[in-house]
Amino acid sequence: MQLNFITFAAQSQPLGQMIFYMSLKDTINMQKLPRHIAIIMDGNGRWAKEKGEDRLFGHLHGVESVRNIVEGCAELGIEYLTLYAFSTENWDRPAYEVTGLMELLVDTIRKEVPTLNKNNIKLHAIGDISMLPENAQKELKEAFEETSTNTGLNLIMALSYSSRWELMAAVKQIAIDVKAGSLQPEQITQDTLQQYLSTSSFPDPELMVRTSGEYRISNFLLYQLAYAELYFTNTRWPDFRKDNLYEAIIDFQNRERRFGKTGDQIREEIPIS
Ligand code: IPE
Ligand code: IPE
Ligand code: MG
Repeated sequence: MQLNFITFAAQSQPLGQMIFYMSLKDTINMQKLPRHIAIIMDGNGRWAKEKGEDRLFGHLHGVESVRNIVEGCAELGIEYLTLYAFSTENWDRPAYEVTGLMELLVDTIRKEVPTLNKNNIKLHAIGDISMLPENAQKELKEAFEETSTNTGLNLIMALSYSSRWELMAAVKQIAIDVKAGSLQPEQITQDTLQQYLSTSSFPDPELMVRTSGEYRISNFLLYQLAYAELYFTNTRWPDFRKDNLYEAIIDFQNRERRFGKTGDQIREEIPIS
């Protein structure tokens, strides 16, 4: 585990006895946690290639990181974690990789449900689930049902997801409802639009993490990330562990979120305790 030194001297104690080791986790302000963290889990392929292995080897090891980070978020008391696991555009990858990823998905869901239940985690998915193979849809449906009464972390898997797909689907449904007369165009507000998105029951992410050194959003939650803090790290996803997550959270906690206001206005709003 990565350690930070906190060294201080008290008046009556010899200095040598006053060295405390604090883990990175201990330096997180538990009163200022993001409610919702979204992660673009990138770099599996490069991680594998660097080891002279096939890309699927990277995806397999990426599952270890998923386990570790889900556990880390649950331990901290994070309310929502969205993981970008497969994009609409990822369907265009070589067939063997797509098939391998789908098999890994089915296998992982099947194996992980008991752990999700043990940790009180509720599973959700966003994306065009109807595009997934039948067995993956079946495993997912069962996992939703089996975890539906859990009240801890909400784990949202973005599968066959892209923002442009989501916005297109929302606009289509709005048009259908307007045509049917159940929605009037003049009634449409930002809240209405939000209700038509696949994320309607979740708050917007406050922190978005992308691994593996890419500085882009790649069609992920374009609308919902409007005011998210973005955190990029060179660490490849299969190497990403709880301490990396803690670093991202601590970085987030040191930012001033202004939402269009001035820094002075924001600081005036924060009561000084
Ligand atoms: C992320 O890793 C996983 C998926 C997109 C499914 P990549 O497979 O994109 O890995 P790189 O970016 O090629 O290294
Ligand atoms: C984004 O990663 C999608 C997922 C992590 C599931 P990509 O690797 O597909 O994104 P690009 O192609 O580098 O933009
Ligand atoms: Mg990638």
